[in-house]
Amino acid sequence: MRLFPAFFLMDDAEIVIFGDGPEAERKARLVAKTPARIWLVADKLPKWASELGAEISAISLSEAPDYLARTRFAIITSDSDEEAEAACKLAHAHGVPVNAVDRKHLCDFTVPSLLDRGDIVAAVATGGAAPVLAKDIRASLETLLPARIGELAALAARWRPAVKAAIDDGTRRRHFWEDALRGAVAQAVHAGDMALAEERMGAALERFSSADAHKETGPVHIVGAGPGDPDLLTLKAFRLIQQADIVFHDKLVSPEIMDMVRRDAERVPVGKSKGEHLVPQDGIHELMIAAAREGKRVVRLKGGDPFIFGRGGEEVEALREAGIEADVVPGISSALGCAASAKLPLTHRDHAQSVTFVTGHAQKGGVPDLDWSGLAKPNQTVVVFMGVGTAATISDRLRAAGLDGDTAVAVIENGTRPNEKRGFGTLETLPQIIEERGIKGPALLIIGEVARLPAEAQTRFIEETLA
Ligand SMILES: C[S@@+](CC[C@H](N)C(=O)[O-])C[C@H]1O[C@@H](n2cnc3c(N)ncnc32)[C@H](O)[C@@H]1O
Repeated sequence: MRLFPAFFLMDDAEIVIFGDGPEAERKARLVAKTPARIWLVADKLPKWASELGAEISAISLSEAPDYLARTRFAIITSDSDEEAEAACKLAHAHGVPVNAVDRKHLCDFTVPSLLDRGDIVAAVATGGAAPVLAKDIRASLETLLPARIGELAALAARWRPAVKAAIDDGTRRRHFWEDALRGAVAQAVHAGDMALAEERMGAALERFSSADAHKETGPVHIVGAGPGDPDLLTLKAFRLIQQADIVFHDKLVSPEIMDMVRRDAERVPVGKSKGEHLVPQDGIHELMIAAAREGKRVVRLKGGDPFIFGRGGEEVEALREAGIEADVVPGISSALGCAASAKLPLTHRDHAQSVTFVTGHAQKGGVPDLDWSGLAKPNQTVVVFMGVGTAATISDRLRAAGLDGDTAVAVIENGTRPNEKRGFGTLETLPQIIEERGIKGPALLIIGEVARLPAEAQTRFIEETLA
C-alpha cells in the first residue's frame, strides 16, 4: 500500500489555496462542503467565490506566510511551474502539507475521489495510476451506500454518550452498535421514519444494558474459508469474519483471507501442518468454548469446507456438549477449487459416474485402511486428500486391486492460489510426478480418466506416447 488514507478534521480549520482559475474553483467547492475557512492567494476574489456558501477571502502572496502559519493544508493550482514550486517551498517552510494540482512530484497528499454522505465519507485513490478507475469505484460505492446513511451516522452520534454511559464493556458496546446499525434501527432510518428509529434505539439500549444480556453465549461460527483464493469466500463467511471478535484459524487459511478479518479481531493460529498440531483438537474446543462464554463473537475458520476432512463434526459435538450452539458455514472444498482451476471435471458422462473423496493419511500415520477394490473400479474419480506422502503406496495398492497403471492422474498443489502447481501423468508414474514437480503439499491426487481432459494434461500424455 503506497498510499496511507487519513482524513483531516475540518472543524475550525483554515485552508490556503494558491490560484483563482478553474482548478482553484474545483478544489474550493470541495473544501466548501466542510466548515473550513478558505484563504485564496489571488489578486482579487473571483466571481465564483460568492456562490460557494463558505467563508472565503482573497489574500496577497506577501500575506500568505501569516496564513500558512495556521493553515491545515495548502492546495496549489498555479499555472506556472516556477510559481507552483515557490508556493510549495513557502508552505513547506511552515510545515504545511501540500497538494499541487497536476504536479505529483510536489504533492505531500492527493485528493481522492470522494463519496459524501454527511458524516460518512468514502475516499478512493489509485495513486495517480488510474483516476478513471477511482471514479468508477466511487460510482459503484454510490449504488451500495443507502442515501440515508448520513442520517444513520448522525443518529449514532446523538446516542453515543448515552450508549457509553449505559454499557461499560467495550466489546458489548461494539455488539450493540453492530446490531443497531445493521438491524431494526437502520431499517427505520432507511425507511425515513426517524421517530421509530429513535424508539428502537431506546429499546435496544435497554435490552443490551440489562443484566441478563451479559449471559448470552454463542453461536460459534464454524466457517469454511475455501481453498485459498479470497474471491472464493462465501458472502456469509466474509460477513462473519468482518464481525468476529476472535478468529481461530487453520494454517491452510490463506494470508489474503486473513487480511479480510476485522482489523481489531484477535487472530489465534491453531492450525496444523502435516499432522503437527499447533494446538491439539481438545485444546481448540476449550479455547472456542472459553471465548464464547466470555460473550465474544467466535469464528473458527477452516481451509476448504469444515465438514470435508476438517474435523468440523468434532467441533460441533464439543460445542453442543458445552451447551453452545454451533453454526456451520460451508466453504468451497479444495477438491472443487482444484478441479475448477485445472478445468478438470470430477464427473463426466463418458468417464466418471461417481466421485469419491478419501484421505491418504491414517490417524496413526501411513495409508489408511481403504476399500481398495471398490476404489479400483472403472468409470469413477477418486480424490485423495493428504496423500502426497503416501502416494507411492496408494499407487501400489490401487494397481494391486486391479486399477490399470495407465489410468490418468493429476496432482494439484496450492490449488487456486498464486503458487498453484499441477502435474499430470498416470497411476504408475504418480511418485515421479510428485518428485519431478517438487510437490510437497497441500496437494490433492485426482485419479481417474477425467484427469486426462485438461489441455495441459493432454500435452503430457502425447509426449509420453511419443517417447
Ligand atoms: C485437513 S484437509 C482439509 C480439507 C479441507 N477441509 C477441504 O475441504 O479442502 C487438508 C488437505 O486438503 C487438501 N488441500 C487443502 N487446500 C488445498 C489446496 N489449496 N490445494 C490442494 N490441496 C489442498 C490437501 O490434501 C491437504 O493436505
